[in-house]
Amino acid sequence: MRLLVTGGAGFIGANFVHQTVAVRPDVHVTVLDKLTYAGNRASLDPIVDRIEFVHGDIADTALVDRLVGGVDAVVHFAAESHNDNSLADPWPFVQTNIVGTYSLLQAVRHHEVRYHHISTDEVYGDLDLDDGRFSEHTAYNPSSPYSASKASSDMLVRAWVRSFGVRATLSNCSNNYGPYQHVEKFIPRQITNLIDGIRPRLYGTGHQVRDWIHVDDHNSAVWKILERGRIGQTYLIGADGERDNKSVIGLILESFGRPADDYDHVTDRPGHDLRYAIDSTLLRTELGWEPKYPDFREGLAATIGWYRENESWWRPQKAATENAYSAAGEKVL
Ligand code: NAD
Ligand code: DAU
Repeated sequence: MRLLVTGGAGFIGANFVHQTVAVRPDVHVTVLDKLTYAGNRASLDPIVDRIEFVHGDIADTALVDRLVGGVDAVVHFAAESHNDNSLADPWPFVQTNIVGTYSLLQAVRHHEVRYHHISTDEVYGDLDLDDGRFSEHTAYNPSSPYSASKASSDMLVRAWVRSFGVRATLSNCSNNYGPYQHVEKFIPRQITNLIDGIRPRLYGTGHQVRDWIHVDDHNSAVWKILERGRIGQTYLIGADGERDNKSVIGLILESFGRPADDYDHVTDRPGHDLRYAIDSTLLRTELGWEPKYPDFREGLAATIGWYRENESWWRPQKAATENAYSAAGEKVL
């Protein structure tokens, strides 16, 4: 199989390429990545000889059409992915997440290539603490420019399936953690702050709940859907990993031997979603998927170990990331 992976130098895409090369040596992987601030070629260093890397933009229709013409399937991870950035400047989110997805859809339509679309549980908005969980039937209700742009891209995919017969599947996953995640994101930010002797930074009350899943479990689900998913179907991916932000910071502090309250409250995120939670029954019953890393404490400890051992990977981004948070007005309360 010849596979085009967009965003393969980003967090989840790079882990997907690593997993694919390790578990499916028969698959020929081409990565298409623009190498924005969030893309890092070094994430692919250990497997650089096993893949083809193309530096380019998913919104470049001529490039995308040529690459898609040479493969059997596309897995589309590339995106602007950070909510805080989408509040500071929504335009790149519209351009990459919506226009970029349009460009890929036109190419897979033209070449009749199988397409899998990676999306997020944030398209459903947020839940109250005592609500049930998101399912494939939950109505879209995005809150931020990021989640609205992802919701828009999902709608394009659904329309291209129905109107043009594109062979696409979609998945909407909850919050991922693991190696190679950019230091702007919640868990790596706190780990690398602690390595640098800075107190972790909690937005608002910290009662917000995220449904954590190990990135390798997300990616094994993507493979199941790519191989056995029903065309046109959306599958929700989640591993029953609900935790509030305050308790996640507590676990990180514990592993650094620090008291659970040794953090700072900082300015809250405008429009901050309260809770995400996934019901992944369809994926489990129809496709037989199960997470391999259900123990969040264990996965978090391994992730902390990875950041301790791979400082050369994250160090170049750390100062610029913290400066951007300060420039955006983040203040210790
Ligand atoms: P990331 O920001 O770490 O990586 C995104 C990658 O896309 C980077 O390598 C970047 O260079 C590349 N990219 C950005 N714009 C591009 C463009 N115009 N053309 C080509 N490449 C471009 O993101 P991530 O966290 O790995 O997320 C990957 C996908 O998974 C996204 O679609 C995101 O919405 C989705 N998702 C993420 C999570 C999560 O917890 N991180 C959860 C569910 C879904
Ligand atoms: O749910 C899936 C989504 O998860 C993905 O679609 C997004 O691409 C991904 O970035 C993630 O979105 P979140 O906004 O939930 O992730 P983030 O890591 O930015 O924040 C997680 C929670 O932690 C959120 O409630 C905000 C809070 N937070 C974040 C940072 C960076 C803090 O309390 N302190 C921080 O320093």
